[in-house]
Amino acid sequence: MRIIGIETSCDETAVAIYDSALGLLAHCLHSQITMHQAYGGVVPELASRDHIRRLLPLVMQTMGEADTPRDLVDGVAYTAGPGLIGALLVGVGFARSLAYAWGKPAIGIHHLEGHLLAPLLEAHAPEFPFLALLVSGGHTQLVDVGGLGRYRILGESLDDAAGEAFDKTAKLLGLPYPGGAELAALAQSGRPGRYAFPRPMLDRPGLDMSFSGLKTAALVALRGRTLNDQDRADVAHAFQDAVVETLAEKCRRALRLTGHRRLVVAGGVGANRHLRARLADIARDAGAELYFPRAQYCTDNGAMIALAGCLRLQAGSQVGFEIAARAKWELGDVGIHG
Ligand code: KG4
Ligand code: ZN
Repeated sequence: MRIIGIETSCDETAVAIYDSALGLLAHCLHSQITMHQAYGGVVPELASRDHIRRLLPLVMQTMGEADTPRDLVDGVAYTAGPGLIGALLVGVGFARSLAYAWGKPAIGIHHLEGHLLAPLLEAHAPEFPFLALLVSGGHTQLVDVGGLGRYRILGESLDDAAGEAFDKTAKLLGLPYPGGAELAALAQSGRPGRYAFPRPMLDRPGLDMSFSGLKTAALVALRGRTLNDQDRADVAHAFQDAVVETLAEKCRRALRLTGHRRLVVAGGVGANRHLRARLADIARDAGAELYFPRAQYCTDNGAMIALAGCLRLQAGSQVGFEIAARAKWELGDVGIHG
């Protein structure tokens, strides 16, 4: 089975072709980051317009690279939500129409389902069931994954997502948007122990999290002072450490609670090397194994959507002719035919 996957939920136009026997055949991506950088964040209207410009050429390019004419495509998968509604509508309308024109099934995918299945693109792939830590720019959730379409949210951030906190703190440090990866790079030369940042909600039981206070802690540390590069690196280090230790402790608790032997980390912040290293410690201590996609499949991409589409079509899931995009959509509400 060969599926084309289309992702346009935010500021990346991404297309990929996945084959159930051969794996990923091609994946192409256009990032809009430089376009949005001048505004310090994603401008939804500009994002939608750029998806319209990029999508068709990207689909043609991907089909060329995968040596896959349309008669070899068995289905069209696309991100149906959650995300920016205008951006989503470009991908949904395009993908649904493409499926209609080609006479193939269309498969709507929950963006976060794409993220949490992304480790299945790797040779070292987890089997179901597993515990997943989803850490992206828009979401931070611990998910009990029983199988395809069987997702139970165990805990989540009550305010900012981890990636959002990284981006906001990066902005305070004068780094360009989105600053998560650059903050992580800056933190490498930071000295431990210079600033004491809180570990939000670790004093409470449960698996919910909160990250907005860390941005405030960074603001307080930076306020009213002329900072040199070492000061900024020290703040970055303290901030990253606080986020990572909080996520690691919540994962430790969730592994104990669920008894899972597999821990998956996915989403943009999952590319963070310090987080991966700490989660590897946590998993080892719990007798579990850690799985993660390579960095390019942690952030938004079409490969995860094509893969999720392939698994869903194999399981008999496809959508009708309605063109439905959902800006808000709980992962826990996704069923196998959802
Ligand atoms: O999953 P993603 O591409 O988009 C969403 O669905 O939100 O995640 C993007 C987020 C951004 O907040 C970005 O700053 C963050 O992931 N990010 C990182 C790193 N690489 C990307 N955060 C921390 N460390 C990194 N190495
Ligand atoms: Zn994402």
